[in-house]
Amino acid sequence: MVICLPKPIHSLEKRLLKVLNKKKKLLEEVAIESSLSLDQTRRAVEWLKAKGMLKTEVEQTKKIFLDNEGKKAALDGLPERRLVEQISKAGGKIIFSELKKKCKFTPQEFSVAFGNAKKRGWIIVSSQNNSVIVKLNQVELSTPQEEIIKKIFHSKFQIEKITPEEKKNLEILKKRPKYIKEEEIKKIKIYLTPLGVKTVNSFEEKDELDKLTPELLVSGGWKGQTFRHLDVEAPSPILFPGKKHPVQNFIDEVREIFVALGFEEIIGSIIQPCFWNFDALFIPQDHPAREMQDTFYLSDIKMNIIEDKKTMQNISRVHENGGDTGSIGWGYKWEQTKSKDAVLRTHTTAATIKYLSDYKPKEARVFSIGRVFRNEKVTYKNSAEFHQIEGIAVGEKVTLRDIMGLLGKFYSKLGLKKVKFWPTFFPYTEPSLQSMVYFEEVNKWVELCGMGIFRPEVTEPLGVKNPVLAWGGGLERLVMLRLGITDIRELYSNNLDWLRRIPMCR
Ligand code: PHE
Repeated sequence: MVICLPKPIHSLEKRLLKVLNKKKKLLEEVAIESSLSLDQTRRAVEWLKAKGMLKTEVEQTKKIFLDNEGKKAALDGLPERRLVEQISKAGGKIIFSELKKKCKFTPQEFSVAFGNAKKRGWIIVSSQNNSVIVKLNQVELSTPQEEIIKKIFHSKFQIEKITPEEKKNLEILKKRPKYIKEEEIKKIKIYLTPLGVKTVNSFEEKDELDKLTPELLVSGGWKGQTFRHLDVEAPSPILFPGKKHPVQNFIDEVREIFVALGFEEIIGSIIQPCFWNFDALFIPQDHPAREMQDTFYLSDIKMNIIEDKKTMQNISRVHENGGDTGSIGWGYKWEQTKSKDAVLRTHTTAATIKYLSDYKPKEARVFSIGRVFRNEKVTYKNSAEFHQIEGIAVGEKVTLRDIMGLLGKFYSKLGLKKVKFWPTFFPYTEPSLQSMVYFEEVNKWVELCGMGIFRPEVTEPLGVKNPVLAWGGGLERLVMLRLGITDIRELYSNNLDWLRRIPMCR
């Protein structure tokens, strides 16, 4: 028979319930009887309390300890005891000043010890030939106060069992500085409520099993057993395990989407010669984007461009007069030295264009995710350093519709279903489009990736014959919208509390 208990009972709770009844028991006692650790007992008590099966009562008591002077007295005897020992060593009689020297007490200690010895009748004081003589009288072997000190010292003193006589003497001891220490102690007593009693009575002889193990399954031993019900509503602690940074997490998600769409990842260097960042993309050498206020230059560095002369000549020709592409070019004198200037790449398009030059593919699908840099003022929406997602698709018959379809697919995999495309301008694509995505949470259309088909002025000098679809755009904006952040700086401020609470998925 399976018993239907109002709430599932954990095995710790069960062990505790079995040793409890209506009588109040100390938590420590219960722990021993149920063979649980104190910690386990405390936990099970809290759970059972929440289920209304037991109640607790706190009892405040005092614990008595010996302080430093008290400990000294326990080991060497009370000062008055040591004082009479000195007299006895001296043969039962001593001059007062002599005694004072021998005792090695502080003046205050000596006067207390002397006073007490006299009060107890342990000594008799007289004067003889102008000096004070101290003589030993009747000395008890032990006083009630010494007994108390001994008891506390040997942990045999229980405040609950104190006699009126002991109480009086303890009070006297407490007046001696640094003899007695007191500590308030809370004692927790536990007892069952009627519901607890009912639950205990409903326990079956045979124990419930906690787990269905592979062994039980193999042996068939599970048959006829009762298993502990799981309490799916039981509170659990909030855990903050180590996890990826939300930006990295998003990068990985994007990476998975592109890989699933049949794309291969390429990685480019963040330091690029102008040649790859600008020239190869048909961006004229006097283009405003190249200005220092837009681009970070590495001062005094000229980079070697490992490229066959022909490509370099082609690019120079296309800039100057359009080369074989049918266009008239930009009509200026292209300078090789300018193309060697080193920059922090301003876009990841530098990586895809280099790939095209290296492999001259007839067909390809590659993507890149990486950091880019722009000399911009850092504000809530701009950062000088951010990530871009970039990609190209090469094929004989690819068209603008394909790139719209592809980006639409990418966004929809991120959960963004409403996408619009807008004509725009980039020096290296024709036609060019800007994509806009609708974010329901903020009820806003947001500009995301730019895209287009690389112009013949870009592909022909590299020897790429088939059309190349290209797109690229910022990544942080997507992360921010997803996490509901309005300030880009928040992503990189390393606020631990925020990082801990950011969920890994939604
Ligand atoms: N490089 C562009 C940017 O940084 C994006 C882009 C890439 C546009 C490829 C068209 C083609 O915004």
